[in-house]
Amino acid sequence: DSDDAAPGPAHTQDRLTEADQAPGDYSDGIPAFVNEPDTNPALEANQRWAEQVVHRATASWLTEQSKPQQLSAEDVDPLVARMRSAAEQWAGRPAAERAAVLYRAADIMSARRGHLASVAAAEVGKAVAQSDPEISEAIDFMRYYAHSALALETVKHAEFTPDRLVMITPPWNFPLAIPTGGTVAALAAGAAVIHKPSNPTPQCSMAILECLWEAGVPREVLHGIYPDERETGRKLISHQGVDRIILTGASETAAMFRSWKPELNINAETSGKDAMIITPAADRDLAVADLVNSAFGHAGQKCSAASLGILVGSVYSSERFRRQLIDAAQSLIVDWPQNLAATVGPLTELPSDKLDRALTTLEPGESWLLQPKQLDETGKLWSPGIKTGVKPGSFFHLTEVFGPVLGLMEAKDLDEAIALQNQVDFGLTGGIHSLETQEVAQWLDEVQVGNAYVNRGITGAIVQRQPFGGWKASSVGLGSKAGGPNYVMLFGTWRDAAEKA
Ligand code: ALA
Repeated sequence: DSDDAAPGPAHTQDRLTEADQAPGDYSDGIPAFVNEPDTNPALEANQRWAEQVVHRATASWLTEQSKPQQLSAEDVDPLVARMRSAAEQWAGRPAAERAAVLYRAADIMSARRGHLASVAAAEVGKAVAQSDPEISEAIDFMRYYAHSALALETVKHAEFTPDRLVMITPPWNFPLAIPTGGTVAALAAGAAVIHKPSNPTPQCSMAILECLWEAGVPREVLHGIYPDERETGRKLISHQGVDRIILTGASETAAMFRSWKPELNINAETSGKDAMIITPAADRDLAVADLVNSAFGHAGQKCSAASLGILVGSVYSSERFRRQLIDAAQSLIVDWPQNLAATVGPLTELPSDKLDRALTTLEPGESWLLQPKQLDETGKLWSPGIKTGVKPGSFFHLTEVFGPVLGLMEAKDLDEAIALQNQVDFGLTGGIHSLETQEVAQWLDEVQVGNAYVNRGITGAIVQRQPFGGWKASSVGLGSKAGGPNYVMLFGTWRDAAEKA
């Protein structure tokens, strides 16, 4: 029943079957979790599929899609009351029923991969090569958290009471995976969800919610809304009947929410300034590819993006390494999604003051290895920029800019490199490229980031394999990581069995 005009990609796998389950993995009979595969761009059929995806992605087509409901201040109390009572029934269903709905939603989303990619291309110009893995991640969240809901029921020593009503405020940079993740985790736990799409991506959110409604999530348990004005948003966020806020966005937004309600129960993932260390013991070819892809994929608009390359000793001074880096960055195709080879797409918003400064200004000691250029009149398409000589404690060392600029820093040894990495307030992702096990062990011991990657890019966490979440200023009240075994447990309160008796 897909509304997808484009046929599905050639190899998307069918729903989980008995054959996919790994007997013995779970003594309690819960099916094993299997990651959804991405679309293989090498297959000719998939290239034709991607062409159709971007062909459909037009602004006029978007206006035909459904819209989030406009919420006014007087709607807030009745909505909260209705949703809290609907949540009671949702939570009262056996976990297996809630899980079955989410497994079904995953199958629907899998069949609608092309539609979702079209919406992301139309709304924010996201390249199909970037949205495709994001859709796999969204599908993974549905199945993984369904799985978690089943696992929750097997906990013997404690009783779990889910939140009644959770509000999800996702970002625009991953408009498919992140909005899905928070929403389905709350639903899996047994809560009702108010989903407030990010301003640039309402249709991405609605396309997700439609998969969930069609799969059997009751309408009253899941609402997609836009507050009509700031006061309405404030009333909702600070409402006593909203048990939890999930935010992925700026630290400033988290602080604003807290100022509205000091005792706010908020779990927020808030920004990053992520670095990759490359030591002389690295496989330099691999390191260059990983650094460049992590820095410039989706034009650097990822909280996980590599914004700093911290180059140790001879790596920093190597002419050959610099040339490799420039070549690799210049080989990336920067374009709108209609160009299927593009991996560096447009900025979603015109450069902020911080990004503008990073794109157009050199701080003391810095020089351009590759100067970024504005490529068209929209002001949103920029070629990758690489600045070298970034100084400890400088603007670019410490500030998240969220765009296609990479800064290189020099470290005399690994100790200094780790100190530079940890000097940043944020602590979301980080990486090291080194084939020396001693170096890697030291780094893993000392680095202060939530997701520490070894000899790999630092974006694109995979559900279950790399649960995602930060430390330090990258996280507010986050007790467990998205796509990890404890995430669904966050959405409620626990009493141990003794209290229960
Ligand atoms: N989960 C996203 C990533 O890992 C943010 O890149």
